Amino acid sequence: MRLANKVAIVTGGGSGFGEGIARRFAAEGAAVAIGDLNLAGAERVAGEITRAGGKALPVAADVTSNKQMKALVDAAVKAFGGLDIFVNNAGMPQRNAPLLNTDEETFDRIFAVNVKSIYLSAIHAVPEMRKRKGGCFINIASTAGVRPRPGLVWYNGSKGAVITLTKAMAVELAPEQIRVNALNPVAGLTPMLKEFMGGEETEEMKAKFVSTIPIGRFSTPQDIANAALYFASDEANFITGVCMEVDGGRCI
Ligand SMILES: NC(=O)c1ccc[n+]([C@@H]2O[C@H](COP(=O)([O-])OP(=O)(O)OC[C@H]3O[C@@H](n4cnc5c(N)ncnc54)[C@H](O)[C@@H]3O)[C@@H](O)[C@H]2O)c1
Repeated sequence: MRLANKVAIVTGGGSGFGEGIARRFAAEGAAVAIGDLNLAGAERVAGEITRAGGKALPVAADVTSNKQMKALVDAAVKAFGGLDIFVNNAGMPQRNAPLLNTDEETFDRIFAVNVKSIYLSAIHAVPEMRKRKGGCFINIASTAGVRPRPGLVWYNGSKGAVITLTKAMAVELAPEQIRVNALNPVAGLTPMLKEFMGGEETEEMKAKFVSTIPIGRFSTPQDIANAALYFASDEANFITGVCMEVDGGRCI
């Protein structure tokens, strides 16, 4: 088991990539707290992990709230005795549209969910990792932050910030054995995808997206979970500040 005796928090673990990461981490021996705005989703995933013999705790949490982020970290520490791994996966898309069509409230929410959450996770999780003399963060950014494309300007910028924060946190926390890495997934068939397609997921749109991915398919929660597992495991204990594409060659 590659994560035996580790405690992990996965935000947005009630759906999509986060669900894949929570399941994979639990199967490798981690106790996983699943923080999600959608408690029913977190409960469903945690229930399935528990029934399969793993350890999981569903927690209702909005990652933009300082109070709720603290409560999420406290709940994981109380249930499982500490914290080793924090996966900042919860994210908010932008509906594909010209840049002037996004209202201010939506812009603020995109940056709160995708960027402020990383600040809040650091504020509350770093002190717990210091108690264990190490730990790791995995931030789910996007190919959108590396190769921005029209129609997703504000989302692209938020994921660019995730990438820079990952590198900046990594270099500052490295002497304390706290590693910080990011994953840049290409489009995946999760509930979020239709927003990137402008609100409707048509076969024509899907074919257009896939045609830009050299390996010729969408990313899956398993692809993202496998890469996250490597970053979280001790096999990666010299790897920090890396922002790795999981994109079938999209960013080449
Ligand atoms: N699906 C894609 O094509 C794609 C591509 C690149 C990157 N990403 C990124 O991957 C991550 C996961 O996305 P997904 O595709 O699995 O989406 P998803 O919609 O399947 O799941 C997102 C989860 O996050 C939760 N969430 C949303 N806002 C939250 C908040 N404020 N607090 C707590 N939980 C919240 C939702 O309830 C949901 O369970 C996101 O950061 C996204 O930006 C997705």
